[in-house]
Amino acid sequence: MDDKQLVGLSAARKIQDGMTVGLGTGSTANCFIEALAQRCRSENLRVTAVASSPISAIQASALGLPLVSLEQLSKLDVYVDGADEVAPDLTLLKGRGQDLVREKILARAAGQFWVLADRSKLVTRVGEKFPTPIEVWPFAWQLVQSQLKAEGIDSKLRIKESGVALTSAGTFVLDAQFPPFWEAAAINRFLNDLPGVVEHGIFLNLASLVLIATDGQVEERRRSNDA
Ligand code: A5P
Repeated sequence: MDDKQLVGLSAARKIQDGMTVGLGTGSTANCFIEALAQRCRSENLRVTAVASSPISAIQASALGLPLVSLEQLSKLDVYVDGADEVAPDLTLLKGRGQDLVREKILARAAGQFWVLADRSKLVTRVGEKFPTPIEVWPFAWQLVQSQLKAEGIDSKLRIKESGVALTSAGTFVLDAQFPPFWEAAAINRFLNDLPGVVEHGIFLNLASLVLIATDGQVEERRRSNDA
């Protein structure tokens, strides 16, 4: 079992009967979905699942997890997802996949948000390894890019082989390189206030618990105000 599978299994073991569980997107979240489905089969655990993306919905339903759509939910117990970067205060960078909007809605709405990581995700500040993904309305991407540029922030429109990357929410993504002196709280404020931005990859004060797997061991870190 590799570290991603281990951390997925650790999180799945924490799920209790009757919970409504949000399913994240990405290779680590997939390990959690598999481990949860396995527990449901072998232990008759009953959960209701809600997916953060069409990809995780397809995987969950192929594994027999009972899914409800986001529209049907008024609350959920826990949201479980991976991250691209995890800072020491448990601020996250997410969104290298393409479903930030639903990911952040679920992370914020859940009673708890558990993050699954391995050591490679640990950074001293968010944005250390990756640019910050910013989902923008397609008609606004150039104006948002200009506003970023005016603040000295370079950004690139995300392109895939098939053309401009389109998220499942129908938005474009700008990958923005904030200079290191921009702190996560300042980036969060700035992007929350920028018209044309639909959502962005800074997840501030959202993670309740981060499970970090390293060489077969799992460490748990909680945000201090949740401890
Ligand atoms: C999806 O949009 C991202 O926020 C993912 O959570 C992130 O890319 C983690 O993916 P891996 O588990 O594959 O590293």
